[in-house]
Amino acid sequence: MRKEIIKIFAVAFFAHGLLTAQSPTQLLSPHTEAKIDSIIKLMTIDEKLGQLNQIGGTWYDTKTERLNEEQTALLKAGSIGSFLGINGAAETGRIQRIAMEETRMKIPVMFGADIIHGFRTITPIPLAEASSWNPELVERSARIAAIEGAAAGVHWNYAPMVDIARDPRWGRIAEGSGEDVFLGSAMAAARVKGFQGKNLLEYGSLLACAKHFAAYGGAEAGRDYNTVDMSERSLREIYFPPYKAAIDAGAWTLMSAFNEIGGVPSSGSHWLMTDLLRKEWGFKGLVVSDYTAIMELLNHRIAKDSTEAGIVGLSAGVDIDMVSRIYIYKLAEAVRSGKLSEEIVNEAVRRVLRVKFAYGLFNDPYRNAKPEKEKELLLHKDHRAVAREIARQSIVLLKNEKSILPLSTSTKKIALIGPLAGKEHRRDLAGAWAWVQNPDDVVSVIEGIASKLSSQTKVLYDKGCEIESDSGSRISQAVKLAKQSDVVIAVLGESQHVSGEAASKTDLDLPFMQKELLKALHKTGKPIVLVVMNGRPLTLQWEADNIPAIVEAWHLGVETGNALADVLFGDYNPSGKLPVTFPRSVGQIPIYYNHKSTGRPMVEKDKYTSRYLDSPNSPLYPFGFGLSYTTFSYSNVKVSSSSIKKDQKINVSVDIGNSGKRSGEEVVQLYIRDDVATVTRPVKELKGFKKISLNTGEKKTVEFTLMPDDLSFYNLDMKKVVEPGTFTVFVGGNSADYIETKFEVVE
Ligand code: GLC
Repeated sequence: MRKEIIKIFAVAFFAHGLLTAQSPTQLLSPHTEAKIDSIIKLMTIDEKLGQLNQIGGTWYDTKTERLNEEQTALLKAGSIGSFLGINGAAETGRIQRIAMEETRMKIPVMFGADIIHGFRTITPIPLAEASSWNPELVERSARIAAIEGAAAGVHWNYAPMVDIARDPRWGRIAEGSGEDVFLGSAMAAARVKGFQGKNLLEYGSLLACAKHFAAYGGAEAGRDYNTVDMSERSLREIYFPPYKAAIDAGAWTLMSAFNEIGGVPSSGSHWLMTDLLRKEWGFKGLVVSDYTAIMELLNHRIAKDSTEAGIVGLSAGVDIDMVSRIYIYKLAEAVRSGKLSEEIVNEAVRRVLRVKFAYGLFNDPYRNAKPEKEKELLLHKDHRAVAREIARQSIVLLKNEKSILPLSTSTKKIALIGPLAGKEHRRDLAGAWAWVQNPDDVVSVIEGIASKLSSQTKVLYDKGCEIESDSGSRISQAVKLAKQSDVVIAVLGESQHVSGEAASKTDLDLPFMQKELLKALHKTGKPIVLVVMNGRPLTLQWEADNIPAIVEAWHLGVETGNALADVLFGDYNPSGKLPVTFPRSVGQIPIYYNHKSTGRPMVEKDKYTSRYLDSPNSPLYPFGFGLSYTTFSYSNVKVSSSSIKKDQKINVSVDIGNSGKRSGEEVVQLYIRDDVATVTRPVKELKGFKKISLNTGEKKTVEFTLMPDDLSFYNLDMKKVVEPGTFTVFVGGNSADYIETKFEVVE
């Protein structure tokens, strides 16, 4: 009987719309949608535009009130719908109370923030986390970011950044999941699920925001904010899917990009924001512009004044104007003069209110204004444990000659050299977009290594040189220590200042004096382990030719020192794989694994094929590459049938054995090639991956299923099709080493 009553009650709740099934491609319950319409009917044009106006606050200053007089007046007039960068449970609660008690419409405001990889517990940069090839772990990492962000009063996270990036000159490659659409889509979905949790209405969830829509990572020359110009086929096959994956995973918001695509700025593109996003994909959530992107339509020179910029942006389908203040100050007159239809305003307001209802703010505007939660949850030890685990799994072993690694904890003397090894640059270890309030949160490399060693081991430390300066050389001091040591650990790379937004570079060598320091250490003849900490692929040809062990450690967050020491001393066998190709030189860029054949594929001895005179075509390290302290052998790749019909699926199996001396994890990667098609197809495309662990001597069979959609592509008519013909299947531990088989698709 009791069960029946609960069921009836739940149905009533559901029907009433309070437990609305929440997908951003469906409207909320009819009751809630009707409620939204009734609110809009009561609003003045200024109050409507207020919902489309977002202002910024000074980040992380939770000690003082965060709004000046003008901002407070705008808030009280109902002219602010959301805030950027204001957090702190008490302060957001104070501001919300003004919105709920001192405005006419009493519509809750939303607090947005960039919690790209952790809030107070900073986890590895997203490019590092993608190196784990572990979506479940990435979801857990996003989950702790959400829990801490919500505890700090945030409602809305401007993440995940899902831009595919094939150009390491672009500093924002650090914020995404690398060059591949399949891996990038898996990571996008994992992060959205982590941020939004199982139920958006539950405490500890944040609204996700897939950004930057669209194709921001395709900037010409890798120069930030630069022009993007590519075919619709490339957009649909490479750049669009991660945004779609984020929406399919439940993301309620997107952020429009700064860049134009083929002559039309994204933030003014009706095709992008309405025809594709709303009509074709059915997205019912909201789009917020990137920072001043509406004003920047003037710089793109597609609007003659700010009113026109506002009309173009809003009419395209960009609902919220982030900090330009054009919507709020210019569009009421545009509506009154008939230049802008009020229905366009109403539709944008409808989407903003829909998201606020979906997030439960109308039921509980103070849901995240709980200072006691903030104290309890920020930098919680359980969160640090997740940060350490994902940092370990993000580390990629690039070279390990004569198994110099793992190091023995009974080593007598270790020279620890480099500007990123000491405590001075702990903030840089957190990487770009890490609002670490206190570098003391970060475990430095020297601290992590010290925690592994007894007093029997002497660690001789010197920074050797500045991180990014030609002055302050300490190379001679560092060399002296190296000469006294049994092994040198050189920790070199980039500061967080040269990574992330507005951080494009033309030279990707180890910066300033760091390479000179490394060469001087190399001259001592001592065994060297190079640890690279960076936010992008660097050009490491000399290092690869001369240094016996190279560890790609990215920027790993608060648990850097512990995670790195776990790997260097063998408490964790590295399992990371590169989510992005490492070029030999900048001259090779863009270089990525899933390239086309061309009409003259490179033939070693044939000058007249697609090649360079002064460099191999191959990268230094290929997509998907990463070594282990053990070795894995692949054999017996099979398909479940030699031929299938176009609408059938096919299974692929492969045997993997651990042929080495210790247990380890391997990311088994499945690629396909459509051998002949009516449109040129890449030489290979990632269509599956599985991370497995194997004890020494253990063997497993791994199975994949390829669905028709995995075999499809956009044909000459831009329709997604599967064409008959043969497919080659590649399975291996990276995109360049594999075993293969074939199958055929028949009509
Ligand atoms: C920045 C970034 C964007 C971020 C926004 C708000 O310019 O492009 O990723 O979310 O402004 O900080």
